[in-house]
Formats: sequence, C-alpha cells, structure tokens
Amino acid sequence: MSWWQEAVIYQIYPRSFYDSNGDGVGDLQGIIDKLDYLNGKPDSLGIDAIWLSPINPSPMFDFGYDISDYEGIDSVFGDMKTFKLLLKEAHKRKIRIILDLVINHTSHLHPWFIESRSSKDNKKRDWYIWKDPVNGKEPNKWLGSFGGKAWEFDEKTGQYYYHAFLKEQPDLNWRNPEVRKAVFKMIKFWLDLGVDGFRLDVVNYYIKDEQLRNNPVNIFKGVRPYDWQYHIYDRNRPETHEIIKGFRKLLNSYKDRMSVGEVFQEPPGTAELPAAYYGEKNDELHMAFNFSFLYSKWNAGSFMKSVLESEKFHPGTHWPNYTLSNHDQPRHYYRYRRRDESVQRAKIAAMLLLTLRGTPFLYYGEEIGMTCERIPKDKIQDPVGKKYWPFHPGRDGARLPMSWNNGEKAGFTTGEPWLPLVFNHKEVNVQNQAGDASSLFEFYRKLIALRKKTKSLRLGDFQSLESEPKQIMAYTRTLGKEKILILLNFENKPAIFPLQIGKTGKQSEILFSTHGRKIVPFESPEIQLEPYEGIIAKIG
Ligand code: NOJ
Repeated sequence: MSWWQEAVIYQIYPRSFYDSNGDGVGDLQGIIDKLDYLNGKPDSLGIDAIWLSPINPSPMFDFGYDISDYEGIDSVFGDMKTFKLLLKEAHKRKIRIILDLVINHTSHLHPWFIESRSSKDNKKRDWYIWKDPVNGKEPNKWLGSFGGKAWEFDEKTGQYYYHAFLKEQPDLNWRNPEVRKAVFKMIKFWLDLGVDGFRLDVVNYYIKDEQLRNNPVNIFKGVRPYDWQYHIYDRNRPETHEIIKGFRKLLNSYKDRMSVGEVFQEPPGTAELPAAYYGEKNDELHMAFNFSFLYSKWNAGSFMKSVLESEKFHPGTHWPNYTLSNHDQPRHYYRYRRRDESVQRAKIAAMLLLTLRGTPFLYYGEEIGMTCERIPKDKIQDPVGKKYWPFHPGRDGARLPMSWNNGEKAGFTTGEPWLPLVFNHKEVNVQNQAGDASSLFEFYRKLIALRKKTKSLRLGDFQSLESEPKQIMAYTRTLGKEKILILLNFENKPAIFPLQIGKTGKQSEILFSTHGRKIVPFESPEIQLEPYEGIIAKIG
C-alpha cells in the first residue's frame, strides 16, 4: 500500500488558516506556526498530509486559481525560502505536502498569455485557444462555469479566446506540444523541490473538441444556464487521457508521489466518470475526487448509496476517497445543521468519513465544527459570490478565517481579516475545544488516532449491512481475521439494530463510541442505539 492510501489528508485554504504578519491574510509562515496543531505532538490532530490551495503568484481574480507565475510564491503568502522551510518542517512532523496544480488555464497576466495576446503571429499565439468570430459572433455557444459566455473578444487582434472560468483565466491549448513541455518542466521543478503530490484542478477540462461542436442542451437540467448544457464537447474529451498518462509517467519517475484530480461527477453522486480518470491500466491519476457526499442528504440511505456507488467503481486497489467539505461548497456543518443537534450530526459525519475504505479528505476547520455564514454584500470577495447573494453563503462563506481562540479576531490575525468574522467564533474555536473530551475536535483527534492504529479501518474490505430501521447506517471493515462493525444512527431518536452478524455468543469490544458505551452485547439479538449514537466495535 502507498502512503496516500493510508493517509488522512487535510485541505488548507492558505488565505484563511493563520496570518503570521498581521496583514489579514493567512500565509506560509502561519502554516508553519500551526504545524504542531496538525501533527507531531501528542495532542495534535494527527493528519498525514496537507493539500494547499494555490500559493503561486496571482492577481487573485479567482484567489490563486489564476496563476501568473508557476514557479514562484505569491508575496502575500511568503517567498520560496519560507516554502522550503514549510516543506522541511512539515516533513519533520511526518506531514506530506500536496500542491494545487492549476494548469487548465493561467491568469490573463501570465507572461505566456501576455505574449500570446500581443499579435496573431506571436510564437505563443497557439499556446491559448484563439478563434475567429463566426458571423461576427462567438465561435460557438459554450458558456463559462462562472456565468456568461466562454469566449472573450480581443479588440487588438480581432479574435476570441476561450476561458472555461473567468475571462481573467484563459485556457491553455493542451493540443500544443510546447505547452505540455513547458508545464511538465514546471511540474518537475516542484517534484525536484520535494513536494509529495498534486491536486489537479479541473483535470477533465484540459482538452476541448477540435471542431468546437455545440453541447446538447436541456433547460430542465439545472439552475444555471451553464448547467443546461451537457458538457460533452468542452469537457472529458478522450485526448485528455493521453496527457494524464504522460503526467503519471513523470510522477512515477520520482519516489512516492501522488495525484488527485478534480473531476465533477456527471450526474452528481455518480462514480463512473471520475473512476475513468484512474486510467484503464491504473496509469493515470492515483485518485479522482469523489464529491458525492457534497450532495448527500442527511439520511443513512443517501450516504450508503454514495458509498456503494463508489465501492462499485473502485474495486481492489482502485482506491476510493471521500470528502465532506471543500473551498467551493458550503461546509457540511452548515449543510446538515439542525437546531441544537448540529454537533451530534457532525460527529456522525466524522465517524463515517474516517471509517470508510478510501482516503479521507478533511477541510480546515471542520474538526471544530466551523459553519458558513452569509457575508455582507460589500464585503464579498469571490467574484462568483455576488451572483448568489443573498440566497447562498457563497464560496466566501466556506473560506472564513480559521477560528483559533476566543479573542476578537479569532486568533487568526492581529490585523483586519480579509473576510469578516461573521460566524460564532467566540464559541467555536480550537482553544475552547482542545483538551475537552466531549468536543468535536477531540472526537476527530481520537478517530484519526484509531484509524492510524487499526489496520482494518485503513485497509480492510468494506461490506454494507442491511438495516431496518433505515435511520442506521451499518457496515463492516474486514482485514484477515479482524472485523470491525460500524453503526451510525442518523436520527435524534433511538433505534434498534438486529445484531445479525454477531452470533459469536460473546460480547464485543467497543473501539470508539459517541456515547461512552463500553461493549456490544452480541449474546443478545439486538442493540438499541441512542439518538445520534455511533459505535465502532471489534467483532473478530
Ligand atoms: C476548481 C477550483 O476548486 C475552484 O476554486 C476554481 O475557482 C476553479 N476550479 C477554477 O480554477
């Protein structure tokens, strides 16, 4: 097994983790300052790797997902010296570093694009996707994921360029071998520095249809015009796989490096499309994100459906992964909030995430139950956020500063935080929870530690169990003779689970419990679970 299959990976949105210099924006030195919180000390959270959202120089139209220099560090986050120190200090604490690779597009201020834009016969013209107008209009009907058309007209040269996201994020032309060469050279630069892996931003967007065919449309398919199109010509083109194979070859020429790609599920919750990016011979990505939990409703059946779907497409060493929250979606604490039951729900969700077969991805702050709040309109930073205000907390809502203590600025900064602290940071913070055995933070910590010391939880087979009543999610993880039973009650009412798999005539040892239960009485035919009770028990 490889390290990333056994790891718990923690996503940091660097702007919002910890600000070491008081400018209101999190930075690399801030992450170094907080490494002990993450791993290496007896009271650390215990994660194995950090995925950093982009840290390269960027004009920040999309907060780093618009890169203007692939081999540098944005000065708001620090410099190369600090990055090297971060790598060293992280590795010292057995934390690996995974970088965000945003290579579908660059910033419009990247020197490559500035050159490309300068004239039609510039030698980098073909590094981006430039097309003539058709009947005085855009070359086709493709739309941008962030709204509007995907084509921007350039007065100077009289052509359109393609951008799948903002107009400040022109797409690279991956059909051009020089682009591949330049990008792979840059990837090598980071591998040589010693980074442990990459998260590949919108990896299934790299290649677009050569004939620029229009996507089929169905206006009943979604809420945004972008969702009305079936993206069969601007995404997931077959030629993409060749590029990923080349990338994987490069990774394989280094020891122990990993990759995880962002591939939206189509339709949401399905696993076939992301699974295809592992490659038919397991020669593409190590993993593609499984976003199904982002769409799961709060009930055992919905989560089980996602898990079974994932299991179906990731047999054997085809490795699954799970994630409850990230920087693009409202946090799960917020999505599943309910009166005074939210912490209990967060504990059940954590127990699920950390007992499944597959790599769990945590999002900073979920371990303390950070929520999302709507941001006043004039304080919104995300260009996409304003479109949904006031109906949705937007992406800013999921990117609020980490809540370290109950001080005025949540211990995040001494300055003015880049996003306002509009959430309950005085109650929900690390200081209040660390060391409090009943807290969500300690719950995560103990669960991670249990996963670490229990091989079957990391590597064992997954088997679902039928459950009547439906409010309980039940499954086992088995490795050799070791069998672990997991029971999760998703509702605020007790429920009886028939112990059909026990039949050992013995009591069973509880490895972990939400309610302090000590044994599972396998001599009895059933067990009554308390409201929102979750248990992890050894039965073999
Ligand atoms: C997906 C990233 O997760 C998102 O934050 C970003 O805006 C787009 N890709 C464009 O890079």
